[in-house]
Amino acid sequence: MRKLLSFFSIILLLSGCAEESKKQEQTSASITSPNGNLEVHFQLDNNGKPFYLVKKNNTTVIDTSYLGLKFKNHPALIQNFKIAEVTTTEADETWEQPWGEQRVIRDHHKQLHLHLEETTDKPRKLNIIFKVFNDGVGFRYDIPQQEYLKGDLVISDEVTQFKLTNDHKSWWIPADYDSYEYTYSETKLSEIDAQKAGYAQRHDRNITNFHAVNTPITMETEDGFYVSIHEANLTDYAGMTLGVTKNNTLSTELVPWENGDKVRTQAPFVSPWRSIMINDEAKDLVTNYLILNLNEPNKLENTSYAKPMKYTGIWWEMHLGKSTWGRKDAEGNYTTHGATTENALSYIDFNKKYDIEGLLIEGWNTGWEYWGAQDTIGFFDFITPYDDFDIKKVVKTAKENGIEIIGHHETSGDANNYENRLEKAYQYYEDLGIHAIKTGYAGGLVPKGEFHHGQYMVRHHQKVIETAAKHQLAIDAHEPIKATGLRRTYPNFMTREGVRGMEFNGWADENPPSHTTILPFTRILGGPVDYTPGIFQIDLAEYRDGQAIQSTLANQLALYVILYSPMQMAADLPENYNKYEDAFQFIEEVAVDWETTKVIDAKIGDHITIARKQRDSDNWFVGSVTDEEARNIEISFDFLDENANYKARIYRDAADADFEKNPSAYTIEEMEVNSTTVYKANLARGGGVAISILKQ
Ligand code: NOJ
Ligand code: CA
Repeated sequence: MRKLLSFFSIILLLSGCAEESKKQEQTSASITSPNGNLEVHFQLDNNGKPFYLVKKNNTTVIDTSYLGLKFKNHPALIQNFKIAEVTTTEADETWEQPWGEQRVIRDHHKQLHLHLEETTDKPRKLNIIFKVFNDGVGFRYDIPQQEYLKGDLVISDEVTQFKLTNDHKSWWIPADYDSYEYTYSETKLSEIDAQKAGYAQRHDRNITNFHAVNTPITMETEDGFYVSIHEANLTDYAGMTLGVTKNNTLSTELVPWENGDKVRTQAPFVSPWRSIMINDEAKDLVTNYLILNLNEPNKLENTSYAKPMKYTGIWWEMHLGKSTWGRKDAEGNYTTHGATTENALSYIDFNKKYDIEGLLIEGWNTGWEYWGAQDTIGFFDFITPYDDFDIKKVVKTAKENGIEIIGHHETSGDANNYENRLEKAYQYYEDLGIHAIKTGYAGGLVPKGEFHHGQYMVRHHQKVIETAAKHQLAIDAHEPIKATGLRRTYPNFMTREGVRGMEFNGWADENPPSHTTILPFTRILGGPVDYTPGIFQIDLAEYRDGQAIQSTLANQLALYVILYSPMQMAADLPENYNKYEDAFQFIEEVAVDWETTKVIDAKIGDHITIARKQRDSDNWFVGSVTDEEARNIEISFDFLDENANYKARIYRDAADADFEKNPSAYTIEEMEVNSTTVYKANLARGGGVAISILKQ
């Protein structure tokens, strides 16, 4: 990522050697954001315990919140500290994303670097670094190499707190150590209770504390702020969950290893950044790039293979039960296998006709007959196609037609087996000329006892992404570790699931209409989401009795703009798209790589409208979705170039559309528009509108 503007830093050593005695006395330090609106105050209490506060416009947002680390094999680093040195710096630079929702991003922050030292006779050191932006705060622990903290270290607890000022309204999912696939609850902080919310435990899920959440958690404060807490740059550490403790405090609870260790490390090391986004309006959270700014610049020399694209897939038909992943069932009987050469070639024809670049093929490799069988491990080798799937022919035909095959690696949670076979599996795809893989970790994890969100899997995903880069492969991970902005450092980590996605709509328990009005303010604040939108056959009774998606068809189109992903699936079956060719035109024309993103209007859980400008183009795309309520909204096109004319193609709910009664009723209209146009849209219950705005 190129540095576009200058970088400057001012170093102010607040305490120097000459002032040794004064330095001993310093027990606090403060820093403000570049515009002065946010303030972080750091202090040591009478016992030398570190804590911090965050204020916005002099209003407290995070009250006295303690910091520190506990170890299994060392005394805790939580008290008896003095401030040895404080360094303050400021940075203002802009950088460019190779692909993304916003091409150029400004990183303007002030940094407070606290060097703490114990006042004991064998003093240990703990550095805490705060970065304060105009729209949020990040902080991390930095443990330097040191005399009295040598050898293997096991963190048994991180004691980081976030003490909120009131019992805020919050949007949350439970702290499941294995899954983020939940609908969001909207409750007060004190009412966070996974059991009360009705979150059922599955055998492959693990909610140990019912009063805790997976991040991002997003809150609306009584002072009119929107606050979202998450983490950035989660590398070689455990995922952070947040437990609700008394006095509106969220306390860090790290996901453990099998034996209860939280983090295995050695000094020197840094923790991930703990991030607090703070905005005046909910819509501004969506364009708050704090998480990306807290990550390191791109480490990959070549990212040209990590291409944003739309893709279809031999996928939905398996979720509907129309075909199978495996060639045979567990008893050895042949089944209706989806990934046949013939079926793949017919998808290639479809993609070619509509200019869709990617094609995902699931169920191409042997092993699926053991899928779901208890205690069967190591059954995927990732290099053996089924005998009815000619992988070379399929990839060759795809290439001849300008189509990229997206390889699939379902590990069935057996990450250990995958790691052992990784190199060979990636070489196999590289030799075939494949440049993208969808991975998956469905089911309980192997090694048994490890969790999807613990340090074991954080390390695993790191290994996967680095090995993938070596073989010029981009990754779309399902059942992943949460997104924490690592895509900046490794742009081949393009997208991931980690969400209750479309697949649930094909099973028994559909996502409610409000779900997609909450995701941009929660899950997607971490990074791109492979939600897999675009189901046109809303009523699924043909496949599953009583099953229907809780949205209108126009709403499905709007999701291409609302739910950001550089790899965006056209998830339905070609035969269903063929029935609605005029509506499919929006999926054909909508972009997947953006110059800029503007959120026009939003209320978390009710509705959201986003406009995005296509990269290297003058075209804009707008999406708007509502929950179960019908709404009349106004969309001002004032983001368009002045004195320019555009043609808008509007895909909207028909007057009688309704997600329950008439989901497939849509209307397409075209009109000349310019920057003074205000478009009035009527969104049906569970509805939406999608608009292509093409410069003339
Ligand atoms: C779960 C994933 O989310 C889904 O996309 C995939 O089809 C199945 N696992 C099988 O790998
Ligand atoms: Ca999944």
